[in-house]
Order: sequence, then structure tokens, then C-alpha cells
Amino acid sequence: MGREFLSLFDQWASSYDDTVNGHDEQYEEVFRHYPAILKEIVKRSGKCVLEFGSGTGNLTEALLAAGKQVFGVEPSQAMREAALQKGVPNVLHDGDFLTFPEPPFKPDTIVSSYAFHHLTDEEKKQAIHIYSNILQSDGKIVFADTMFQNQAAHHAEIEKAKAAGFDQLAEDLETEYYPSIDVLKKIFEEEGFSTSFQQMNDFVWIVAAKKWE
Ligand SMILES: C[S@@+](CC[C@H](N)C(=O)[O-])C[C@H]1O[C@@H](n2cnc3c(N)ncnc32)[C@H](O)[C@@H]1O
Repeated sequence: MGREFLSLFDQWASSYDDTVNGHDEQYEEVFRHYPAILKEIVKRSGKCVLEFGSGTGNLTEALLAAGKQVFGVEPSQAMREAALQKGVPNVLHDGDFLTFPEPPFKPDTIVSSYAFHHLTDEEKKQAIHIYSNILQSDGKIVFADTMFQNQAAHHAEIEKAKAAGFDQLAEDLETEYYPSIDVLKKIFEEEGFSTSFQQMNDFVWIVAAKKWE
């Protein structure tokens, strides 16, 4: 479910870390402040963390280094292998945002970076519904991802990418399911969460969602 972009990630796995380190001009702004973005997620996380879309395990590593227990879920085998190869502990499991193995603990935090936009808005709602039932009672969700203030802002970034000759970025912005902040806020609220949003660069925001008491 929501795995339609998987072959892209199998191909991208070997060079993914070069991209996050700013070596791909088209994605430079998307990954600007990447280490600070991961750090902010770690800072906002509790002790028992369920992570989705772990990729090559950069956030996983940062969470583990901060002493947290992590259960990672990543559908791309090539990404999981790339993580293992660079020494990330074996905490990543095959699965996706909607269908995943049961973690050995009840999470107090569910995190994700640069991945939630692979789900349609309907699938995002299904995912948040599932998470609402598995989180500890005072649990929270902390997601960093590309999102936009509104449709006009989304459209403006597509035009900017095209004008700069960033065709891959433009196609990505046109085809994947980047949400507007209002839509995401509504999805969380309908599932019983209050939200706050923090902008990290021109594309990426962190949404932190807490269950209402
Ligand atoms: C841009 S990478 C982000 C990796 C990592 N979280 C980071 O911050 O560097 C997106 C990841 O989401 C994964 N992914 C794609 N579709 C997914 C889905 N439906 N459920 C969970 N993860 C998914 C991809 O395989 C890929 O590893």
C-alpha cells in the first residue's frame, strides 16, 4: 500500500546519501539543514520510537545515538541493505506506512523524515487512524516532509523548478502527494490530534501532532 514509488528508491539507494549531503543541485534546497532537521525530530522524540521510511537509516542512527529504542519500517530492500552496509544496527524491517510488523513495544513517538508524501491524502488519513490506536495515551507523531502553505505556493515551486531547468524536481513536485498544511492539519484533527508546524527550509516543515487528552 502506498508503495508505488518503490522502484525509484531501489535505484536511488546507492547514491541517496550523496543527495542528502547536497551533491544534487536540484535537491539542494530540499535537503538544506538536513542534519538539523533530523536533530529536531530526535529532540522531540520520547524513548520508544516507531520510524517509517527509514531509507539509509540516517534518522535511525541519530535516534539510536540519543539512547532511544527504535523499530524502523522501510519497504525498499536496497535502502535497508545500504543502511546495514554503512553500519546502522539491524533495526529496520520490511513494511510500509500502512502495513508493517508489530513493534516489540508500544511507541511513545512515531517519526518519519522525507517520506509521508508517498501516501495519497486518503492513505495519510488511514495511516494516522492506525497510529492513533497504537501510540501510548500521551504519544505523539513527529514528521518532517515537504509540504506547502497552500496550492498557490505548491504551484509556484513547480514553476520555479521548471524555470531553473530542474526537470526532475518539477516532475517530483507534480506527481507525488505533497500536502498543503491545512489538509494535513485537518487529517490530524479528525483523528484526534492537535498539531504545530515549524518551517525548516523552502520545502520542508516539521509537523508535531499530539493526541488530545
Ligand atoms: C526520501 S527517502 C527518506 C529516507 C530517510 N527517512 C531520510 O530522511 O533520509 C524516502 C523513503 O521512504 C520510503 N518509502 C517509499 N514509499 C513508502 C511507503 N509507502 N511507506 C514507507 N516508506 C516508504 C522509500 O523507500 C525511501 O527509503
